[in-house]
Amino acid sequence: MHLLKKIIITFFLLTFSLSSLANQSVEEIIKGRKAMFSENYQNAKRISVLLKSKKIEEAKPLMKKISDNYLKLLDYFPENTKEGFKTEALPSIWENKDEFNALMQKASDDMLKLAKAIETADDLRAVQKKLMWSNCSACHNRFRAPH
Ligand code: HEC
Repeated sequence: MHLLKKIIITFFLLTFSLSSLANQSVEEIIKGRKAMFSENYQNAKRISVLLKSKKIEEAKPLMKKISDNYLKLLDYFPENTKEGFKTEALPSIWENKDEFNALMQKASDDMLKLAKAIETADDLRAVQKKLMWSNCSACHNRFRAPH
């Protein structure tokens, strides 16, 4: 085979494998963030059940887990993950990145506040609504597509 031919073939193989690698990491990022949001949802529902039967100590580690996931999620919205892989993330995220990140940070901080508040709160339902559920809808209303 001519050297030139070899070079051309190698070039195409390389470009192809590099682009599929880049693609895979977009897939991993989008699927990774979806998995973390789903895990948060499962844990939030579990928290509600536990608090209904006043199992406060059992609920606390789940709050910490949700809080930690939110912090990790701050890194899961790079510019190249706006579309594909059934993402429900809206373009408004990248147009208002500071606001989006601030909401994520607030949601994280509020979960830690919740873990403290349940020690003394009279109305556990009200405090969960204020420090957990309201942050989900506040963010989804602006930054997640209707589903
Ligand atoms: C700061 C913003 C923000 C907060 C706070 C937030 N979410 Fe989301 N959520 C999103 C975005 C954006 C998506 C879309 C992610 C995607 O599809 O790439 C999403 C997706 C989801 C999904 C779908 C995951 C999947 O498998 O497609 C669930 C479930 C979910 N969120 C639940 C929750 C719950 C429950 C809360 C509160 C306890 C919450 N979220 C708080 C922004 C947020």
